Amino acid sequence: MTIHIINGPNLNLVGKREPEIYGHVSLSEYLTSLTEEYKGKVEIKQYQNNCEGELLDYIQRIGFDESVKIIFNAGAFGHTSLALGDCIRAITAPVIDVHISNVYARESFRQNSYIAPAAVGTISGLGLEGYRLAVEWMLKH
Ligand code: DQA
Repeated sequence: MTIHIINGPNLNLVGKREPEIYGHVSLSEYLTSLTEEYKGKVEIKQYQNNCEGELLDYIQRIGFDESVKIIFNAGAFGHTSLALGDCIRAITAPVIDVHISNVYARESFRQNSYIAPAAVGTISGLGLEGYRLAVEWMLKH
């Protein structure tokens, strides 16, 4: 099994972006140590892109492989992108929707999601730990 952790726009800035919301730890460093930690148990690949089309192409490319599972933080595209929602519905790989912050405790426009209805489940508000919890769930199911 390979778990792809996919992050959308501005998530490359976590660590220096609004630290009161997203914390001081760089997301790519956190995910690199998570990948190391799970070596031998499961292969984890991380991918980040700021462009909607690139995210669509990547998910379409990997999403029909039976051995693939996806953890996806679409960032702001989660609230706006019908195309990414359709893409998650189209592929066969299971997807967990992750948000670092609690989007339900923030502005109302963050409460709409095109990803959540197409995903197995959502983790929101548990910080970077949400990615680890999603990996753990995928190892058990
Ligand atoms: C986010 C929440 C989104 O509303 C926001 O646009 C992001 C990050 C999160 O991880 O909490 O970019 O997806």
